Amino acid sequence: MKKKIVVTGGTGYIGSHTSVELIKEGFDVVIIDNLYNSEAEVADRIEMISGVKPALEIFDVCDQKKLDEFFSKYKDIAAIIHFAAYKAVGESVAKPLDYYGNNLISLINLLNAMKKYGVPDLVFSSSCTVYGQPEKLPVTEDAPLQPAMSPYGNTKQIGEQILRDTTFSDKNIKAIALRYFNPIGAHPSALIGELPRGVPENLVPFITQTAYGLRDELKVYGNDYDTPDGSCIRDYLHVVDLAKAHVVAVKRLIEGKNKTNFEFFNLGTGIGVSVLEAISSFERISGIKLKYKITGRRAGDIEKIWADPSFANRELGWKTISTLDEAMKTAWDWENKIRSKKV
Ligand code: UD1
Repeated sequence: MKKKIVVTGGTGYIGSHTSVELIKEGFDVVIIDNLYNSEAEVADRIEMISGVKPALEIFDVCDQKKLDEFFSKYKDIAAIIHFAAYKAVGESVAKPLDYYGNNLISLINLLNAMKKYGVPDLVFSSSCTVYGQPEKLPVTEDAPLQPAMSPYGNTKQIGEQILRDTTFSDKNIKAIALRYFNPIGAHPSALIGELPRGVPENLVPFITQTAYGLRDELKVYGNDYDTPDGSCIRDYLHVVDLAKAHVVAVKRLIEGKNKTNFEFFNLGTGIGVSVLEAISSFERISGIKLKYKITGRRAGDIEKIWADPSFANRELGWKTISTLDEAMKTAWDWENKIRSKKV
């Protein structure tokens, strides 16, 4: 029988790509999503790519009663991958209670349900933001965590702490936190991708929307950082590579290959790319000269961070495959397809 995996936030950006990869690997996917930042139609797109339509249950994981109904309906769940969360750094500063409430209550509800209904394994979306500005680069998993710069970042740190404490107190529960660096790009079919609400905060959707003519110009937030070209450095990884890491992590838990009951891994390419290099990559793959201007720094930005992914490479047997240009190309294909409504 196929193993059943619950994917919260499964119609969202990373969740939808992960659902595709799970189905391709023979898992039975059940999505929970409140459609706050996504659309039900994504389940059809997942079917177009994978040949299987995942079950979609539309409700908020913060709703304990609905969650109980869900677990009474779906039995024999092997694992949960928990994506559903708010993720806009700036918005989290303006609405901290929304962020703490949504991101933490959803996690606590799921863990309580796991205990109650006997679901043993959880994969959690964490972020490289837990490291703040690391002293040593590339950053390894044993780098000290820094005080979070935003309520969003804090929810990831507290989320990891909740998992550490819960897995310590209850040996029936195992968890893996995946610390994402900067996911970009879209599925090569251009049927699913990132679709931010309103003005994008993240770099790549802003680049593709500007090139498409939806935004006047990109603001490059600072060129006076201590980096070779003065712009900030990040580690951009293709979302399909990232999605595959979730499949590996879930299998590791199900097969009991985890070394401790709470594990955490850096997911990145290991390559630092500046904002100006990311723009050059876009210009190279699209043949478009991007309109941009250098402005002041964005409050709260880290100067430079990129992953040492060797622990994930070694322990999970996972590594990124796509190059920056390949990822950028899929982001551009997706932007074109979604705007021209050819999807
Ligand atoms: C941050 C967090 C990440 C989190 C993500 C959620 C860090 C290191 N990373 O990503 O964990 O999951 O927010 O949204 O804290 N940029 C511009 N112009 C723009 C937009 C961005 O120049 O219009 C620059 C930024 O200054 C930054 C880079 O592009 O240097 C990437 O920015 P962004 O895509 O917003 O991601 P992070 O801030 O790295």
